[in-house]
Amino acid sequence: MGFSAKGARVLVTGASSGIGAGLAERLAAEGATVGICARREDRLAEVLERCRAHAPGSQMWTCDLADLGAVDRLAADVVETFGGIDLLVNNAGMPKRKHVTALDPATVDRVMHLNYTSPIRLTLALLPQMLERGSGRIVNVSSVAATLSSPGEAAYDASKAALAVFSEAMAIDLWDLGIRVLTVYPGVVDTELFTIPDNDPLPPGIDAITVDDLVDGVMTGLADDLLEVYVPAWFKDVVKHKANDTDGFIQGSVAYVRDNWTKTKAEEAQAPGTDDGPAGGRRSRPSKKGA
Ligand SMILES: NC(=O)c1ccc[n+]([C@@H]2O[C@H](COP(=O)([O-])OP(=O)(O)OC[C@H]3O[C@@H](n4cnc5c(N)ncnc54)[C@H](OP(=O)(O)O)[C@@H]3O)[C@@H](O)[C@H]2O)c1
Repeated sequence: MGFSAKGARVLVTGASSGIGAGLAERLAAEGATVGICARREDRLAEVLERCRAHAPGSQMWTCDLADLGAVDRLAADVVETFGGIDLLVNNAGMPKRKHVTALDPATVDRVMHLNYTSPIRLTLALLPQMLERGSGRIVNVSSVAATLSSPGEAAYDASKAALAVFSEAMAIDLWDLGIRVLTVYPGVVDTELFTIPDNDPLPPGIDAITVDDLVDGVMTGLADDLLEVYVPAWFKDVVKHKANDTDGFIQGSVAYVRDNWTKTKAEEAQAPGTDDGPAGGRRSRPSKKGA
């Protein structure tokens, strides 16, 4: 069947920057009318302007997706405005790079709420109109952290794993009802996600792919009716390796943490002032692949 953006009505959450902005712009360029939402109105307006250059009917909604009432209102509003949604992209999310010993229950709840409860709420709100038509697409942006249990981000890993498992099970439930679900597993993508305060910095030397690389992967997944895409694709081999030898994989992760995270922390402790600047300040991003 293969998804074509031409004439499609799309909603992309978390489209004020990064992956969401990139996807919204690509979908608009390929002929979709795009609805975008996030909290930062000024940034959304810039993305909307670029979408409207291709798709003049595109619209934006400023909302906090942690507010489930706002999620319900958003769903009702976009359906009324566009007359339906053919493709929902659940992309909005928050990072939480924090060692498990530094986590508190409220933080764990907050991460699960935004990264899992909220996109599922939006999905269930938009599903009935897809079922009525017997067609629709849902893209859930998870993370390789979901399948690889990235060290130092247990709360984030679990929230993305919950989203991925719901996504897969939903793909089965909806298979015969004409609705396709794509789960996306990005590796490290060069976005503002790594500048958000109250997160540990990434260990140095991690290569990031570009938003364009990631968008290419999602568009291929949609066009080829895939159930999942790993971007970069080699991450799928790491997942297979983990499944074949979980003990070895976990031991490898422990060694990686010793060599990188722990060493980085020790170096930071020895050189105060070279960390992330003032409290709440922006951090440096991972290095771009090939840069
Ligand atoms: N970058 C990576 O390496 C990477 C890897 C794997 C998975 N991911 C996932 O990819 C998705 C997009 O992240 P990104 O890397 O593109 O980072 P980003 O540039 O920080 O984008 C995050 C988006 O989510 C929105 N958002 C955050 N909290 C929100 C809230 N409470 N209500 C509404 N919108 C909210 C942000 O908009 P506002 O701040 O304007 O609300 C922004 O548009 C996330 O789900 C992330 O977990 C990223």
